[in-house]
Amino acid sequence: MERFEATSERRHMTGERRRVTVLFCDLVGSTRLSDILDPEDYSEVMHAYYEACERVIEGLEGWIADILGDGLVVYFGYPKAHEDDPVRAVRAGLRLVEAVSDIRLQLASEGGGLSCRVGIETGLVVIGDSSSRTQEPIWGGPNSVVIGEGTGSLVAGWFDLSPLGSHAIKGIADPVEVALVTGETGVHDRIGAAFPRNLAPMVDRVDEITRLEEDWGDARRGNGRAVLIRGEAGIGKSRLALALRERLRDVPKRLVVLYCSQDDAASPLRPIIEYLDRDIGFEANDLPEQRIGLLAGYLDRAGIADADAVTLLAEILIPAAHPATLDAPAEDRRRRAMDLLCRLLVRDAALGLLLIEDLHWADPSTAELITHAVERLGAHPVLAIATARLGTDPPWVRLAHARTIELPSLGATHTAELAAAVAGAHLPREGQALILARSGGVPLFVEELTRMVLDRGIVSVEGGNATMRGRITEESVPGTVYDLLVARLGRLGTESNIAQLAAVLGNEFSAGFLHAVAPEETDLDGQLAHLVALGIVEHGRESGGDTFRFSHALVRDAAYGLLLRRRRRELHGRVADVLVRDFPGTVESRPELAAPHFAESGRVDEAIEHWRLAGERAVAHNALHEAIDHYQRALELVRSMPGSPERARREISLSFALGPVIQNVSGFGDPRVGDLYGRIADLSHWLDSDVERFTFLAYGYAMSMVRADYAAARTVAVQLVDVSSRSQSTARRLLANCSLGTTLFQLGQIEQAMPLIDRAIELYDPERHERLINAAAIEPGVVSMG
Ligand SMILES: Nc1ncnc2c1ncn2[C@@H]1O[C@H](COP(=O)(O)OP(=O)(O)OP(=O)(O)O)[C@@H](O)[C@H]1O
Ligand SMILES: [Mg+2]
Repeated sequence: MERFEATSERRHMTGERRRVTVLFCDLVGSTRLSDILDPEDYSEVMHAYYEACERVIEGLEGWIADILGDGLVVYFGYPKAHEDDPVRAVRAGLRLVEAVSDIRLQLASEGGGLSCRVGIETGLVVIGDSSSRTQEPIWGGPNSVVIGEGTGSLVAGWFDLSPLGSHAIKGIADPVEVALVTGETGVHDRIGAAFPRNLAPMVDRVDEITRLEEDWGDARRGNGRAVLIRGEAGIGKSRLALALRERLRDVPKRLVVLYCSQDDAASPLRPIIEYLDRDIGFEANDLPEQRIGLLAGYLDRAGIADADAVTLLAEILIPAAHPATLDAPAEDRRRRAMDLLCRLLVRDAALGLLLIEDLHWADPSTAELITHAVERLGAHPVLAIATARLGTDPPWVRLAHARTIELPSLGATHTAELAAAVAGAHLPREGQALILARSGGVPLFVEELTRMVLDRGIVSVEGGNATMRGRITEESVPGTVYDLLVARLGRLGTESNIAQLAAVLGNEFSAGFLHAVAPEETDLDGQLAHLVALGIVEHGRESGGDTFRFSHALVRDAAYGLLLRRRRRELHGRVADVLVRDFPGTVESRPELAAPHFAESGRVDEAIEHWRLAGERAVAHNALHEAIDHYQRALELVRSMPGSPERARREISLSFALGPVIQNVSGFGDPRVGDLYGRIADLSHWLDSDVERFTFLAYGYAMSMVRADYAAARTVAVQLVDVSSRSQSTARRLLANCSLGTTLFQLGQIEQAMPLIDRAIELYDPERHERLINAAAIEPGVVSMG
C-alpha cells in the first residue's frame, strides 16, 4: 500500500536533484522461511516484519520509496529534509536490525530465525524520474548495517564504525570504501562528534568568554545568572559553551546538560527525563520495581522529603511501572511534579553549570520547566546557559539576572585564521576571500568549505604552503552542510520555486528583474516577503530598494543545486535573453552579468564574447584583477570547445590579451604567463596559413625572451625556423635563424648557435632589413609583413 502512495506522490513532484541517504533493507532467508512455514504463518511473519520496519522508519521520518518483495528502499532527505538525515538513516538501520530480531524471539518455536541486513549510501538522485538510477545496495551479513563512504564521511563521530575495505559496486565506476556500523557513540551534536580530535582551535569570542567568566564568578557567590546564547546554525553557540567549560576544567563543579532534540519536540520533558535517567543510574534492563527503588534512594540523597515525590516522579520517569497515581487532579499532579523536577535541577547544578542545548527544540513542558528553574536561580550558585537558534525568545531573558549574547559571524581575519587552522596552512589571499564570501563568516561553513576545497584539490597544501589550483563551482555545497541548508529550504512551500529561480539570478537579485523572468508568478512579492521572514533571503544593502540577496552564498548554492540541469539551462537562457532584450545598457556596461547566463545555458559563443568584452572593459577601467578573471573565464570556455583553427585563433588572441594584464599585476615571473605563452607553440599547429603562424610564434617568442624563459623560447624558435623555411621572405628566415641562434647562445649551446647566427648574417641586407629588425624588437608582428 505504502508503495502505491509513494509512486503517486512521486508523479506530482516536478523533477529535482536531491542528495538523499538511501537505506536498503531485506530479510535474510525469506525463501527458506516461506518453504518451512505454513502460508498463513508466513504471511503473519511478513506482516510483523513490515510493521516493524514502518514503525522504525516513520519514527525517524524516513520515506519508504519502494517495496520489492521483502526488500525496502527508504529515503532519508526526501520528501522531508532534516539537518541530520544521514545520521537518521544509520540510526534507522540499527533499529531495524534490532526490531526485526525481536520478531525472531517470538518465533523461536517455529525453528526459523528472523534477521535482516541493511545497506546505506548517500548520493544524488533525480526525484520524479522513475528511470533514475538507484545504485546497487551494499550488503553485509545477517543483522549487519553496512554503509558506503558517502554516508561514512557524514556520520563520522556519531557511530562506531569498523572499516571493511573497498568494494566494487555495480553501476559505480570506482570501488567504494565500506564500513560496518557497530553502534552509536552517544554524542548529541556535531561538537560532540568532532571532540576532541577534529576540533580546530578556538578563534575570536574573547569578549564573550570574559563576560561568561564574570557571570560564573557572580553565580558562584550565590547570585545565580542565566545567559541565552543565540545565533544561526553553525555560528558557534555550542562551541562557545564548550570553551567556557574548558576554561573551568580545573574548577570543581557540577555540570548538568540538557539536550533538546528535534525528534523529541512531541515527547514532553524528554531532555530532563534523559538527564535524570543518566543521573539516577537506570540501566537498560532494570525492572520497573528496581527503578522505583533507585528513584527513592536518589530523592532521599537529594534531601527531598515530600512523601509523594516518588509517586509523582515515577509517573513521568518510569511509566512502565504503572505506579499508583496520586489521588489528585492531573493538573495538580503535573504542577507538583514540575516543581520537584525544577528543585532537582537547581539543586543538581549548584556550584556548577546548567547547560541547555538547542532550546529552540524544547517541547513546551521543558521550556516551561526551564523558565521556572531560571526564575528560581537568582538566589542559587548556578550559572545557566542556553543555546538557541535565531527567533527563539524565552520569557526568562527579561529577568534581571539574565542576559542574551547574540553571536555574530566571524570577521575576515578570524575567518582566515579558522580556515588556516583547518587547512594547516594560511590560504592564498584569493582562497581566503573566496571562503569569506561564501561562508559569510559562519564558523561551520568556514570549516566545511575549507575541508571541501582541500578534498577537491582546489587548494593544495604542501610543506605548510597553500596554493590555489582551481575554482569552486556553483554546486559545491559541502556535504556536511548540505542537509542543514536543504532542510532550511525544505520548510518552503511554493516559495521554493521562487528561491530556485532567484538562485539562477545569483546571490543578489532585484525583485524587478525576478518579475521580468517569472511573469507567470502572480504573488511574487508575497512569496519574497515569506522568504525574508524565513531568513532565506534578506533585503539588499540599500534600504527601500528592491534588491534582495540570499542570507548566505551557500543557501543560494543549495537552492540552485536542487534544479535539474535541464531546467537550469532553460532558466539561464531565459535570463540572458531578458537581460539583452530589456536591459541593453546594463549588459553593455557590465557584460560580465550576462556572460555566465550564456555559459550556463550552453550558448558558448555568446558567453565567450561577453567575457572577452568584460575583460576589455575591465582593462579600460584599470580593474586588472577583474580583467584577469574575465579573460580566464573566456579562455576556459574556449578550451572546452573541440579543436579547430577558429578555436586556436580565439585562444591565441585571448592569451595575448590576458598575458600583458597578468604581467602588469604580478610581473613576468608569474607562472600563468609561462603557461599561456607555452601553449602558443602547440596551438599554432592548427593554423593553416604560415603567415599567421609566424605572427603568433613571433609574439610568443618575444614574450618568452622577455621573461628570460629560454627553454620555452627555444621551442618556439625551432618552430619559427621550420615555418620560415617554407617562406619566400628573407626577412622571416633572417629573424627565425637569428631568434633560434640567440636563444641557443643564451643557453650556452654556442656550437649549435653559431651556424644559425652565420646564416642570419648571410641573409641580412642592411638596406632592406635595418628598419625591420628595429621594429621587430618592439613589435614582433611586423616581421610577418616583411
Ligand atoms: N570561535 C570558534 N573557533 C573555532 N571553531 C569554531 C568557533 N565557533 C564555532 N566553531 C566550529 O564551528 C562548528 C559549528 O559550531 P557549533 O556547533 O558550536 O554551532 P552552533 O551554533 O551550536 O550550531 P547549531 O545551532 O547547529 O547547534 C563547530 O565545528 C565548531 O567547532
Ligand atoms: Mg549547537
